[in-house]
Amino acid sequence: MYPCGSLQTDSQLPIESAQPLNPRKQQVLRPGRHRQPMTASRNTTSKRRRVLLTVLTVIVVLGILVTAGYFIKQLIDSKYFFCKRSFKFIPLDKACDGTSDCTDGEDEVTCVSSFIANSTFPVRLVTQSNVLQVYNQGAGWRSVCSDDWTEKHTVTTCKQLGYTNEPLSRRLSVQALVSSMRTGPFTAVRSGTQSTPIQTATIDRKDCKNGHVISLICSDCGQVGSQDRIVGGVDAVIEDWPWQVSLQQSGGHTCGGSLVSPRWVVSAAHCFTGSKKEVSRWRVVSGKTYMGTLGGSYVDRIVLNGKYGNNDYDIAMIRLSSPVNIGDTRRPVCLPPKDLGLTAGVGLVVTGWGYLEEKGRVSSSLQKAGIPLISSDKCSSPSVYGSAITPRMLCAGFLEGKVDACQGDSGGPLVYMSPSGSWQLVGVVSWGVGCAREGRPGVYSNVDMLLNWIHTVMEVMRDRAPNKTNTKTIKPHDWHDISQNKDGWGGRF
Ligand code: ARG
Repeated sequence: MYPCGSLQTDSQLPIESAQPLNPRKQQVLRPGRHRQPMTASRNTTSKRRRVLLTVLTVIVVLGILVTAGYFIKQLIDSKYFFCKRSFKFIPLDKACDGTSDCTDGEDEVTCVSSFIANSTFPVRLVTQSNVLQVYNQGAGWRSVCSDDWTEKHTVTTCKQLGYTNEPLSRRLSVQALVSSMRTGPFTAVRSGTQSTPIQTATIDRKDCKNGHVISLICSDCGQVGSQDRIVGGVDAVIEDWPWQVSLQQSGGHTCGGSLVSPRWVVSAAHCFTGSKKEVSRWRVVSGKTYMGTLGGSYVDRIVLNGKYGNNDYDIAMIRLSSPVNIGDTRRPVCLPPKDLGLTAGVGLVVTGWGYLEEKGRVSSSLQKAGIPLISSDKCSSPSVYGSAITPRMLCAGFLEGKVDACQGDSGGPLVYMSPSGSWQLVGVVSWGVGCAREGRPGVYSNVDMLLNWIHTVMEVMRDRAPNKTNTKTIKPHDWHDISQNKDGWGGRF
């Protein structure tokens, strides 16, 4: 039998002839980036898009939640006090009202305190030339001769006045003093004594052996780098008024204030009445031209003048938990010497973020206004404020109106540029009828009359820990503290 023909044929062909004569190199297809099938690439892109969208949504939702949370916290904070240990909220005006509403009295721990400085603070600087005087019971005020005075005495005395910063002393000829002071009485340190306080180291003198008295500059204050509404004011920059601070509660500007040292702020007592007595809620924002809420200093004491009431003695001292860093935007103003001797018409400057008009809103940028001092006779005349004006007040502004401090400026500074070139805190924004009205000028706390109280507070509290047991802690021999005063708002602010 023959095999099948086709098979036969095939088997007869040489192997080589079955292949092309000039074979092309076969291209090997390798999987590569550009060789993926179209359908797979589309899938990955949309997956990525989905992930991105989810991430974005999560971020936006989180952002909204955080912002909402912040505002809700602010809202709650502005109305309630949170008792941490007993985990409950109480209305804000129940905090620091004298009765404990949290189980362990947490709401009565850090509260404003009131003080009356009952006696004379025994050290003071007087007149434009800052002459040092000490007070001895019976002997009264005496200027201190430069005889036997040393650098140690300068440091001791400035410390007594509440300052620790680079104190300076100089000798002044008795003949150069104002006439009423040329004939004494005088006193001098006993040679070799270093004892503190300074009034106990002195001995009375008929006159100064070397014809000179001591003048002190206790703090690096009132100097500004560059010098080139308040209602009717103009924009100002903080570098020119670096002592100006904003006192804030729950993130809201409430009052102004002035740094008088890296740790102490002077403000008005009426800023701390009603539901504003809880110390830990306050922040002091310094160094800002545009009022913001961030980066404020914490406060560890707020001391109101114990005689505050009916707008009288409207002054408070606030101690910061830690001192601010002094620089171009933060610098203390000088507390004036006693009897600076300002006369009516002298030019003063008031600054603040208060209302730009009587029924307006606070200003976002700092304002300043130049206003003259009004004599107390004029201000107490029946056509102006009559008997509402006390010796603890001074008036400044224009009887024709137009330029004035206003709501939100309270507690802020009224300053005077001394001939020696440093700004002095002569007033604290206190009250007025309306703002910038005709015949209704601004009324300020008269710092000159409150210097004794200010120095006493700074001296007594200088090294004391934060107020933990309210008014009970401070009982120095020669002055009183009383519990929070009962006066509410005086009515006219
Ligand atoms: N009592 C106001 C305040 O709380 C300040 C009032 C000043 N008024 C004036 N007309 N100067 O901010």
